[in-house]
Amino acid sequence: MPARVAASALAVPYSRVRELAEIAMGMEGVLKLYFGESNLPTPSFIKRAAEKALADGFTYYTENAGLPSLRQALARYHGELHGVELDPASEIVITASGVQALSLVLRCLVDPGDEAIALTPAWPNGAAILRLAHAAVKEIPQPRRGDDDAIDFEALESAVTPRTRLLLYASPSNPLGWVATEQDQDRLLDFTRRHRLWLIADEVYERLYYGEGRVAPSILRKCSREDAVVVVQSFSKAWCMTGWRLGWMVGRRDLMAKAAQLNEFMVSCAAGFVQKAGEIALAEGEAELREMVARLRENRDFCLNALRSMPGVTVSIPRGAFYVFPRIEGVDDSFAFCKRLLLETKVGLAPGSAFGAGGEGSVRICYASDRSILEAAMARLNRFL
Ligand SMILES: Cc1ncc(COP(=O)(O)O)c(C=O)c1O
Repeated sequence: MPARVAASALAVPYSRVRELAEIAMGMEGVLKLYFGESNLPTPSFIKRAAEKALADGFTYYTENAGLPSLRQALARYHGELHGVELDPASEIVITASGVQALSLVLRCLVDPGDEAIALTPAWPNGAAILRLAHAAVKEIPQPRRGDDDAIDFEALESAVTPRTRLLLYASPSNPLGWVATEQDQDRLLDFTRRHRLWLIADEVYERLYYGEGRVAPSILRKCSREDAVVVVQSFSKAWCMTGWRLGWMVGRRDLMAKAAQLNEFMVSCAAGFVQKAGEIALAEGEAELREMVARLRENRDFCLNALRSMPGVTVSIPRGAFYVFPRIEGVDDSFAFCKRLLLETKVGLAPGSAFGAGGEGSVRICYASDRSILEAAMARLNRFL
């Protein structure tokens, strides 16, 4: 028998978004709306901060939990945005991206054979990380109610078993653009408290928010520091820093201590000069962020109007993030649909089936690109339909 790859690794499916992107990468002139990334470069003041940090010698390992100065800056940031008081020394851990925060925290929370509940359609990484840790994932689709998506609390109750350890959701959601209301948050907290589960809130899109104020409501405003709640965060989306790999998480101190310790064995720490650049992003990024959100809101409205006029298309209103997730009547294989759309019109969308239960029949469009690209893509999609 030749040496083999672990069954748990083989069981993780290939990303269907990536599969489609690989076809597109072999073509010329594709309008690429399949990835979750803004086309804007990282603002120059953040790049300059990284250059300065390199010159200043931030080229060594940092603490496993991240530089104390960045943790202090994040505590102040959460205080200003949400009015919550966090202890930077014990309740915040810096990570090398949002996905690494998720990976680290889930590794701390599940043992082989445990179960997790995830609201879907969702960015598939959470479920994949759980499966890699030999945990089972129960996907609970979010039903559409009018212009919005909702939470099926009855289905959540029925999904709980003695092996259930946690509930994972994202607000604002990728791919739905759904944002948990205060009432949703109260009910999610009540649910996880009653069943003694961890509540993992992925809030990486909190600054890309189209409601009142400059941030989506965080679960941190609702829970106490003793609650079994973790918020996963990232610099990728709000400051156009996807390639820098910098994130953080906030959570109960015993869990954060364990996460910081385990970080040693995953990446040890996020790059020091990147962490310094993150401090500057927090301190000086508000003006560019406001401009970006205004531009995204216009793009969202443009796409919504265009989609609503297309035959057989229904769509909920995204309240945050930079995705719209229209359902297309008659589509029961969204991968085949997206592939044909790509080959015939050179419009690259992400198939809804990539996002788990409740995603089939829809496609995800990322509207964080130039208006001219969106206009051409919507016109071609309309003709194709
Ligand atoms: C819901 C959600 N969470 C987390 C992430 C992770 O972002 P990053 O790993 O770049 O910080 C993404 C990226 O697309 C996402 O969509």
